Amino acid sequence: MEGREISQAVIRRLPRYYRYLGELLENGVERISSNDLSKKMHVTASQIRQDLNNFGGFGQQGYGYNVKYLYTEIGKILGLEEDHDMVIIGAGNLGHALANYAAFEKRGFVLKGIFDVNPTLKGMTIRGVPIHMMDELEDFVKNNDIEIGILTIPKAKAIEVANQLVSYGVKAIWNFAHTDLNLPDDVIVENVHLSESLMRLSYNISRYKEEQKKSEK
Ligand code: NAI
Repeated sequence: MEGREISQAVIRRLPRYYRYLGELLENGVERISSNDLSKKMHVTASQIRQDLNNFGGFGQQGYGYNVKYLYTEIGKILGLEEDHDMVIIGAGNLGHALANYAAFEKRGFVLKGIFDVNPTLKGMTIRGVPIHMMDELEDFVKNNDIEIGILTIPKAKAIEVANQLVSYGVKAIWNFAHTDLNLPDDVIVENVHLSESLMRLSYNISRYKEEQKKSEK
């Protein structure tokens, strides 16, 4: 499996498999057929088989999938077996919300520090994690081997701060600022835009209403 290219489309679906399998494990389910998993997840059984066949040997004819094994293997593929140390830049509303979400730690995403330019925040903590001023960022990132930078600052400063983080050794950016960062290819960027998700929701609401109107005619 080492070194094998898995398509991005499959990678995007893996966290959802991971979540469902985690729930099955919690409920004491030891094995599941692709048909049963398909019913739960509302995707076709053939999609599940195709996706999971990428990793080879997880499923067995007539037995189904070993839930624990599959959960562990997908966790490994997603890099969840090791910790990822992170900092949040921007201790405003969104920064607070993310810092307060303790469940990230359960998956190995460990928040080490929070940074801001607002001096009134200096020395405060969120869920026990201290807020530092930006002039401490370089030493902090280097001394703590920070891997992920989370950007929850206004877009006007996002590119500058992202470049700073990268120059200090950060390898990956979780970007919430509404701007594209255009970082070097070896920096991993995951953009999260809740408003885009809302727009998709809005699109589907409009479509649903159209369908309803048509069926009333
Ligand atoms: P906010 O105004 O509550 O917080 C922003 C924080 O960033 C403030 O504490 C401010 O002092 C700090 N800051 C400003 N410049 C900085 C710099 N150069 N270095 C470090 N800290 C700096 O804003 P909120 O609501 O938390 O939103 C933050 C950003 O996230 C905004 O750009 C907003 O548009 C975006 N956002 C994105 C969402 C998404 O889905 N991607 C959802 C909600 C907000």
